[in-house]
Amino acid sequence: MTTVLPPEPLADRARTLTPFETGPGTPAGRYLRSFWQPIARSVDLEAGQAQPVTIMSEELTLFRGESGRPVVMDALCPHRLTKLSIGNVEGDAIRCQFHGWKFGADGRCVEAPLQTPALLERVTIGTRPVREEFGLIFVYLGEGPEPEFPDIAAYSRAHGYGLASAPVLEAEVYRRYCNWYLNHENSMDLAHVPYTHALSANPELTRTGFSGDAAVVRDFTVERLEYGVRVEEVDDEGLHARVTVLFPNVMHLIIPMRIGTLENLYWRVPIDDESHKGFGIMSIHTDEEGAREWRQTQKELEEVAAKYPLTEDCAQQIIRGEKRLIDFVDHPKLQGIEDALTQQAMRHIADANLQNLGRSDRAILQLRRMFLSRVAEFVAGEPSASDIWPS
Ligand code: FES
Ligand SMILES: [Fe+2]
Repeated sequence: MTTVLPPEPLADRARTLTPFETGPGTPAGRYLRSFWQPIARSVDLEAGQAQPVTIMSEELTLFRGESGRPVVMDALCPHRLTKLSIGNVEGDAIRCQFHGWKFGADGRCVEAPLQTPALLERVTIGTRPVREEFGLIFVYLGEGPEPEFPDIAAYSRAHGYGLASAPVLEAEVYRRYCNWYLNHENSMDLAHVPYTHALSANPELTRTGFSGDAAVVRDFTVERLEYGVRVEEVDDEGLHARVTVLFPNVMHLIIPMRIGTLENLYWRVPIDDESHKGFGIMSIHTDEEGAREWRQTQKELEEVAAKYPLTEDCAQQIIRGEKRLIDFVDHPKLQGIEDALTQQAMRHIADANLQNLGRSDRAILQLRRMFLSRVAEFVAGEPSASDIWPS
């Protein structure tokens, strides 16, 4: 059951906090680390493959053992501190490229050529709890034992959808060259849609992207919930968009489409304080015919996408004045370029005090107050700050 609460003021103890800085030891960083966070798509990590990962300014090694098990451990080999991700996966262990020390998935050093047996007893590498769900690999970076994993399917069901059995269900990822919180706030900013996405909503020019419906300026409602903030655009014609931010960094999006209903869950995960990734579980609730049509269109669009740089790089070209948005009108991810454009053109860490917020920004303001208050509660050790979403 959703409980709608009156607007929340900013708690006094939260006034000096910031959501922008998330490196190790920062208040917002510690808060985000107390939840499971996605670090990669499953399809981007083959068995036997290792890769470096940076999350919240922290470097890690991610690899998939030959059994298929994903493993996350510290970035550097404890011997001479080179990156373990350049090493080789053997079984469910990884061997350092430099002098061949080998570490099991539990972090124990199981081989160290030319060293004494005592060294094997002594040396370990830090590992992190890992889960693989809905095509995404999640890691827990917080202090203490890992929390319960959010029941994503139950949350969807409780809101009238069946994410787990949607005919179209895919994991998505993109990178954006701006602070994570700018994108998180954008979730609450329905006023951006008719302008930021004016081009992709134009059916005369584009065959993909938002429907023309998105270019209409409509008012929206804002609700404070126990676990986040919800904005909704609804009028006599019905629902146009419903976006819920689930603390700390998840967006749940519902948008009616011609072939059904789009339901997305997106995590905004800082890479560092000046860039982040969006990891999504994208679903379309449609019939078999709708799913077939969508897959066919996607296949065609992938071929077109291969001709272009990534969305974040297209946006940078526009920001530098080398290109215009219209130059990317055929880009299958035009909407992504549009969002990247406005967000990357902000300062990486926006000075909130210089902004002039008005009525259409009330959801942004509510999110800021609530987010910082949760960070303050977390720092003070209050357990309510670590609540996961209700189902
Ligand atoms: S640095 Fe890794 S084995 Fe020497
Ligand atoms: Fe947008």
